[in-house]
Amino acid sequence: MTDPQFWWYVSRASAIVAWSLLTATVLWGVLLSTRVLRAADNPAWLKDLHRYLSGTAIVMTLVHVGSLLLDPYLRDETGFGPVAALVPFASEFRPLPLALGIVALYLMAAVALSSLMMRVIPRRAWKAMHFASYAVVALVAFHAAFAGSDTGTWWYIMVSTALIVATMLAVVVRQVVGSVAAQRQRAAERARQVPQRNERLRVVVAERLPLAEGVLGLRLAPEDGGPVPVWAPGSHLTLHLPNGLERQYSLCGDPADRRSFDIAVQLSERSAGGSRFVHESLRVGEAIEVGPPRNHFELEPARDYLFIAGGIGITALTSMIASLPASRHWSLVYLGRSRRSMPFVNLLESRYPGRVRVHAADEQAGRYPAAAEAALSSAQVYACGPAGLMDELTAAVPAERLHIERFVPADRAAGIVVQPVHVQMPGVGSFQVPADRSILDVLEDAGAPVTGSCRKGVCGTCELRVLGGTPLHLDSVTDDAAKDAAGVMYPCVSRALSPELSLDL
Ligand code: FES
Repeated sequence: MTDPQFWWYVSRASAIVAWSLLTATVLWGVLLSTRVLRAADNPAWLKDLHRYLSGTAIVMTLVHVGSLLLDPYLRDETGFGPVAALVPFASEFRPLPLALGIVALYLMAAVALSSLMMRVIPRRAWKAMHFASYAVVALVAFHAAFAGSDTGTWWYIMVSTALIVATMLAVVVRQVVGSVAAQRQRAAERARQVPQRNERLRVVVAERLPLAEGVLGLRLAPEDGGPVPVWAPGSHLTLHLPNGLERQYSLCGDPADRRSFDIAVQLSERSAGGSRFVHESLRVGEAIEVGPPRNHFELEPARDYLFIAGGIGITALTSMIASLPASRHWSLVYLGRSRRSMPFVNLLESRYPGRVRVHAADEQAGRYPAAAEAALSSAQVYACGPAGLMDELTAAVPAERLHIERFVPADRAAGIVVQPVHVQMPGVGSFQVPADRSILDVLEDAGAPVTGSCRKGVCGTCELRVLGGTPLHLDSVTDDAAKDAAGVMYPCVSRALSPELSLDL
């Protein structure tokens, strides 16, 4: 190393880069938190970029500190060493600006640490710590303005001014847009809370639309003329039919259109009175009750999606597709017996050219290798369809990339010797559930405030919180890890591995 000023150059360059990256991190975080990037739907790469920016800012800050320690001028002329670099006011060289920089470094490390521990610390604590990022950029701005030896140069003044203006802009955007977004979010949450857990809504059949052979579309509008409750892609609705039956159907269409609920009902050859009643007896203008939309098939942010629909399973996927911005990468594999029996097939092909692959068994020979394609892809796979297709996908695709919704439950009870279980419900009572009865049936008969609908472990209506004991999940609502993470079980089919369970609503 011949140039004695080398480490000075490194320290100045790393300082400017670190400051710029820090400002960019805060700006990007503001755009994410205020949902200014809403059109992009906060997919995973936007959050990843925020993390990369902040991580690189920390690395450049450490390069800055390291190069200061290696600068022979600082070392020999001012006695600058590790203590002066890490302890506020330990240096005699510009003590206040240096102290501000050191405090900023510690705060930055605390923010980064809280982000790494995001899953284990309360969200409020993480959020509060994240607000310290504003203090970090303010401290860095003062530190940079008074600590450096080139602070009076024209280029330094220009860069500093640009970064400080950008930071102030970020604070203003956070305050203005953030409060508007918070108001909207509160309103949305209020709307989501009404109706409550099992509160029903009266709707009238506004339209009956033949969608395909044996598939009838229903448009259900609230009887009072108001908007339907907020629902998210992947949600389903429970219809309480006038003949006393309850049936669940996926909501299709665009979740942003709140004038009505749209569903598609396939006439089942083995109908026990649900789909047949809808097809043959439910008329336009007739009022029925529906339960609140429920969602156990949520669309998570991702870079790339592969949707796989088998027959009527397309309904849940249409709302997911409609909710994605045009720029998102996705493709759809749509399998069916014949185009005549496949709802929305022409609409999807014409609206999304190049993204939809249709395999109709009466047109193309052989089976479409959907499971093999999904296994080879790196996309997040969302699938809904018959049990055979869901089983193939489950066997072929890693669980972390697969999201499925079954409308026929998987047979999970085979080979299991069901044991009696003692169930406690705080504030309600305790109940002995024999091996030959479901937990839900026993709780209902005893007058506990529980409800069920499908009673097959598919709809999720009977969900209860697990306060104690170990459930034996036998349902097909979501994967077992998700249920355990959420601390819930579905007592219409599930049992217990422990002799006792403590459950709550
Ligand atoms: S009643 Fe449908 S999952 Fe239990």
